[in-house]
Amino acid sequence: MPVTLTINGHSTDAAPGGGSLFDHAERLGVHVPTSCRKNGKCKECIVEVTEGMSLLSPPTDHERHLKGSFRLSCQTHLAADEGAVHCHTMRRGQMRIENRAVGLPLRGTAALDPCVTRADGDRILLDGVEIARSTEPIHGLAMDIGTTTVVIRLINLETGELIADASFENPQRFGGSDVMSRIHYDTTIGQFLLQRTLAGYLTHAIESFPVDPRTIYEVVVVGNSTMRDIFFRQDVYPIGQTPYRSITEIEMAEGKRATTSLTQTAAKSLLPIHPKARVYGAPIISGHLGADAAACMLAVGLAHEEQLVAIMDIGTNTELIVGNKDRILAASCPAGPAFEGGAISCGMPGLDGAIEDVSIDDATGTFRFNVIGGTAPEGICGSGLVDLMSELLRTGRMNEFGRFEDGQERIAIDPTRGIHFFESDVNELAQAKGANVAGLHVVFHTMGVPFDAIDVFYLAGGFGRHLKVDASKRVGLIPNLPSEKIVQVGNAAIEGACIALLSRAKRQELEDLVKRVEHCRLETHPQFFDFFVEGCQFKPVESSSVAPVEG
Ligand code: FES
Repeated sequence: MPVTLTINGHSTDAAPGGGSLFDHAERLGVHVPTSCRKNGKCKECIVEVTEGMSLLSPPTDHERHLKGSFRLSCQTHLAADEGAVHCHTMRRGQMRIENRAVGLPLRGTAALDPCVTRADGDRILLDGVEIARSTEPIHGLAMDIGTTTVVIRLINLETGELIADASFENPQRFGGSDVMSRIHYDTTIGQFLLQRTLAGYLTHAIESFPVDPRTIYEVVVVGNSTMRDIFFRQDVYPIGQTPYRSITEIEMAEGKRATTSLTQTAAKSLLPIHPKARVYGAPIISGHLGADAAACMLAVGLAHEEQLVAIMDIGTNTELIVGNKDRILAASCPAGPAFEGGAISCGMPGLDGAIEDVSIDDATGTFRFNVIGGTAPEGICGSGLVDLMSELLRTGRMNEFGRFEDGQERIAIDPTRGIHFFESDVNELAQAKGANVAGLHVVFHTMGVPFDAIDVFYLAGGFGRHLKVDASKRVGLIPNLPSEKIVQVGNAAIEGACIALLSRAKRQELEDLVKRVEHCRLETHPQFFDFFVEGCQFKPVESSSVAPVEG
């Protein structure tokens, strides 16, 4: 009886001697990234094995960098005659990725003024210097490299038109799911494996765009400090050690560079675009406040903003920026993975099968929920968890300290599928929320204004886009502001990257903006612990709870 081998949902019968998992994938029409001759050298062909690991050949020397359920598909063969093997490439299908922004102020758009221009019909100039001859259209790429997801946009630099876009789960997951794990992986395993793997996926995305990749002459990259620096092959060790600084920040402080932005050639980035193309990594703000947060400031037009605005991107590391054209404060809040479903017994990312909103029937007390993709529920994603806690609070089944009624330890959400919510899960979420709320208090306290002085509160990022505002206010994840002040903008970072790609003036504005930001380091604020403890409670976060600093 042959083994049933399933790769990315495509199945075949297979037997030992029938080639590697890579060979089977090719026969099934599944694309596996590679830039070697399937000989274990490029390390890009990683698959995650979710079933049947014991039916596979033992890891080879080429796989020493991989742990757990990850294998190199070109090195892995079937070693059993029957059973089932399930694996997938590092692209998990159907992840809900936020690749758009909405509700941004119009001043975020700029006159078309890219660094790459055309002269005399066929001369392609980068900063006025000829780099190519072509009559084909001129293209550029904007990229947002997140720890979890990657978004790319292809733009015609002569018209500003969006030609195509792509988004996928960051394949660097084999190096851990958070920035600290990636830093550890990159600094201990080395060999630029994380960057090379991502470059393989980016190459596949770029080659699937409907233009000749050699007509792409510039790339603007944003991302958190770790993702950006890994992409640019910088030493990320210092970002993982207190006081958490990018090597570019350290070099700037030492007078070795004038900006934290980075540039390199397309060849060094391993991208299949024009070899003389420039890859520009937008500047970071400070520490874990990265180029993505900087790009958000550009997208909302903070440099020209008269009103007081806040930008909050809730994630494993929540970024918070508060200010206007006169003063800007920012903080990075180490919330951890709870709101992305990590460390929660029934948690999962925003993939198909995730419960994304929850309500409790007042008459019967039963749960109602919607599941992403309309499939059977497998777990609960971040926005679903916020909804669930809001409903438990509303119906009195959980108190503001996160304790369940009648001393229960768990609440059955869908017992037939084993989906339960534990008090221990609430504790994880309380701590994540505590970090975010402490960040809010510290920044507003330092600014010397109460929460309700804010004119616009932008909730950025994929998680912020899908949150229910009322539920978020009830559990105290965001300040208890009038809902009309809260704007869920989605992926403002990719929008900022596009603006920087299309306008030299805006790119300079971005370079200037990051230098004006005052970084509030939470851990050094004298009231941090008090704010954190208050933030762990599930109750509305009120402006009155912040005492403005005198003077
Ligand atoms: S294809 Fe290059 S290591 Fe497997």
